[in-house]
Amino acid sequence: MPQFDEAGLTEEVIRSFAKTSDPRLKTLLTELVRTLHGYVQRTDLTFDEWNFAIDFLTRTGQKCTPTRQEFILLSDVLGVSMLVDAVNHRERQGATETTVLGPFYVGEHKPLPHGADISAGVAGEPMFVQARVTDLAGKPVPGARVDVWHADGEGFYDSQKPGYEVHGPSLRARFATDADGRLFFRTILPCSYPIPVDGPVGELIGASNRHPMRPAHIHFLVEAPGLDALITHVFIEGDKYLDSDVVFGVKDELVSKVERRTDPTLPDGTPVSGPWHLMTYDFRLRPGSGVAPKPMMPAAE
Ligand code: BEZ
Ligand code: FE
Repeated sequence: MPQFDEAGLTEEVIRSFAKTSDPRLKTLLTELVRTLHGYVQRTDLTFDEWNFAIDFLTRTGQKCTPTRQEFILLSDVLGVSMLVDAVNHRERQGATETTVLGPFYVGEHKPLPHGADISAGVAGEPMFVQARVTDLAGKPVPGARVDVWHADGEGFYDSQKPGYEVHGPSLRARFATDADGRLFFRTILPCSYPIPVDGPVGELIGASNRHPMRPAHIHFLVEAPGLDALITHVFIEGDKYLDSDVVFGVKDELVSKVERRTDPTLPDGTPVSGPWHLMTYDFRLRPGSGVAPKPMMPAAE
């Protein structure tokens, strides 16, 4: 009857996966076992701690719904999401920096014409966003599919607000770039916001005395045939949380100066009363498959 000491157990579990036919799966399982076993040994994990971890992960799963992904949030605050992003973008070749997708890429991104107001009546300071998509040589990319989403002036995404199922999406939409690779839309100025802290991830943030804030930003997901899909944000310069983003997602190149303007018309000629903000950003895409890696959301019950 086999009997294993600590080191022997690790090797035996790894051996148990030896016949895994997919070589990549075999590597992932082997390294997972090594890493998990090493963690237990290095920390002398107690039964109480192990039980707590099982309960924590169980509750993390239970918190997930079609519009809430607590596991992505956990991955984000542990820096795993940014690390996966980093190892997959070692050769940027001059492409725009990437960052986390985050857990709010949910629901419908309705195709809208350029110049549309995506705020759907949500109150806030008006903002005009103009962007351009090019390849690495600066050649415009027409017909790129650009999904945008962001929080409101109080820090909430549409899917976090009561009545979302009835009211439908706001502050999220889909645009297609024109012949010159451009897109533009109207919205409201987003602000910094806390990640959801009413679940297990919030417990973790609280127990470690970390703040839960993300600096103000707009999300962009850009897809075009033959180019590597770009998942990124444009952050607003001057935000006080740029240096301490709870999900480690800020990169210098993604911080944009948003101008405060008082002109009576927006760049597309739309009249506006009172001050407004202007965000301008150009995205450069490297060659690739054209398809963004998107997580699966839990199905509706
Ligand atoms: C977000 O920017 O939407 C986000 C990203 C990571 C965790 C929570 C929120
Ligand atoms: Fe966000």
